Amino acid sequence: MTTRTVLLLSGPNLNLLGEREPEVYGRTTLAELVDAATAAASELGFDLEHLQSNHEGELVDAIHAARGRIDALVVNAGALTHYGWSLHDALAAFDGVVVELHLSNPQRRESWRSTSVVAPVADGVVAGFGAAGYPMAVRAAVGLLDAR
Ligand code: DQA
Repeated sequence: MTTRTVLLLSGPNLNLLGEREPEVYGRTTLAELVDAATAAASELGFDLEHLQSNHEGELVDAIHAARGRIDALVVNAGALTHYGWSLHDALAAFDGVVVELHLSNPQRRESWRSTSVVAPVADGVVAGFGAAGYPMAVRAAVGLLDAR
């Protein structure tokens, strides 16, 4: 039996988590968030892969490579969430489950953050729960897969 896989994608500046604006994003590092997401996936019998990139095209390439290979994407696109239309289009061409993820709740921050180009191509959104959102988003993605 092949193991099913969740791909966690992290966009620009998320490599600085832990040091970057801790009052907004907390002190948990990206490596710790990936560990928590991996543990949640593994409890449900899933593998988890992770890619962080500061480059939109690299994330687009990863979404293309996920087609037919990855069951679910959990995407924290960072600021690309708000204007990364090539990510939107790549996600629209992905036929698995897509969960949009944010540490903060962009809706209660600056007005430019209230637009998400990911949301229209996401099955669901997890936002505002800080580090706890990472395992939550993985469980939500698997729940949606189970419901398919
Ligand atoms: C973020 C929210 C975005 O608005 C911001 O640009 C980020 C992080 C979050 O996880 O809360 O880089 O996606």
